[in-house]
Amino acid sequence: MKITVSAPSGLEGVVKRELYSLTGLSSQAINGKLDLEGDIKTVAKLNLHMRTASRVYINLGSFKACDFDALYDNISKIDFENYLDKSSKITVLSSIFESRLNSLQAVSSVSKKAICSRLEKAYNSKINETGFEHKIKISIRHDYVTVYLNTSGESLHKRGYRAVSGEAPIKENVASCLLYLSVWNKSKILVDPFCGSGTFVIEAGMIAKNIAPGLYRDFDFLHFEKFDTSFYKDMIDDARSQIVTPSDIKIFGYDIEPSQVRLAISNAKKAGVLDAVSFAVQDVRDFSSSDSYGVIVTNPPYGERLLKRSEIVSIYRDFGKVYKALDNWSVFTITPVSDYERLFGKKADKKRKIYNGKLECNYYFMYGKPPIKK
Ligand SMILES: C[S@@+](CC[C@H](N)C(=O)[O-])C[C@H]1O[C@@H](n2cnc3c(N)ncnc32)[C@H](O)[C@@H]1O
Repeated sequence: MKITVSAPSGLEGVVKRELYSLTGLSSQAINGKLDLEGDIKTVAKLNLHMRTASRVYINLGSFKACDFDALYDNISKIDFENYLDKSSKITVLSSIFESRLNSLQAVSSVSKKAICSRLEKAYNSKINETGFEHKIKISIRHDYVTVYLNTSGESLHKRGYRAVSGEAPIKENVASCLLYLSVWNKSKILVDPFCGSGTFVIEAGMIAKNIAPGLYRDFDFLHFEKFDTSFYKDMIDDARSQIVTPSDIKIFGYDIEPSQVRLAISNAKKAGVLDAVSFAVQDVRDFSSSDSYGVIVTNPPYGERLLKRSEIVSIYRDFGKVYKALDNWSVFTITPVSDYERLFGKKADKKRKIYNGKLECNYYFMYGKPPIKK
């Protein structure tokens, strides 16, 4: 069957690389989505192991529809009875981009009618919707409709370790993407001097320990009656057996707020990485290191909800001074502050537009000298 993986905006390339490393299959990223062929085990593997993706869907079909008759008729042709059982509760969510069908509510309601009628014919009985909620997504772009079954349920950024969020946290899958885009790997020192609830540090700890990101959560596909998912227990056991605890991991998070540091520690404990990472209360102005090489990946305060502009100016300037005193360190920063480079006192080697939630940010790449190979 066709599987579609959705990616955070601007980070499709990172998701594509992770998808390839997990499945050996290459796929093209189109409009934030990547398609591949697979079966229910592929669905399970992607949900359990993908750090960068937003959701995993079964792609049920695509067609052109410029009016509601075409929408109804084409949806009725999809073999929903192979995915939904007689008692499935059905929720339809739609998204529309530059199309003649332009009412979200009407598209969802007509689609649901077509699905129910198809199922009633297939099962030769009324649909009672008392069972597990199956989430159908109808995506319409330029009159082209694609119908998906959501296999993840809640977005994959919800790993299950962050019950309470800090202020302005970054999504876990976006944090993983940014770590993968940086030069960090588990043999290098990692520091987040503005760690908040600890997302970068915890995601890095999970990468370093090879903890599957989906290990602590439930997924919708596990409740689909139409699929035998009894293999999943072995998949989970296998993922657990792959966890390692290298002794030389150096991953640190600091924050000026003691409450944030407490939160980060509690989250790290839930994520099972407290033996690989450490946190402390510290003003960025007090950070220094005698190590010649290291990597900073961070999401400093923005000045919108958290602090006033004058405070941001002072923090960014001082962060730049602290960085200057470090030997060959690299620093990767996501921020919406447009004069970040000027305040920090260094031009980025590269920058990329990335969204943190709805907020348009840039991710600034500043490379230090690479370590000398012995
Ligand atoms: C945008 S939040 C970071 C959110 C974090 N990435 C997360 O996922 O939870 C910025 C953090 O910087 C901290 N902060 C503000 N001023 C600081 C300073 N001078 N030194 C260190 N941390 C500071 C705030 O307490 C806040 O937790």
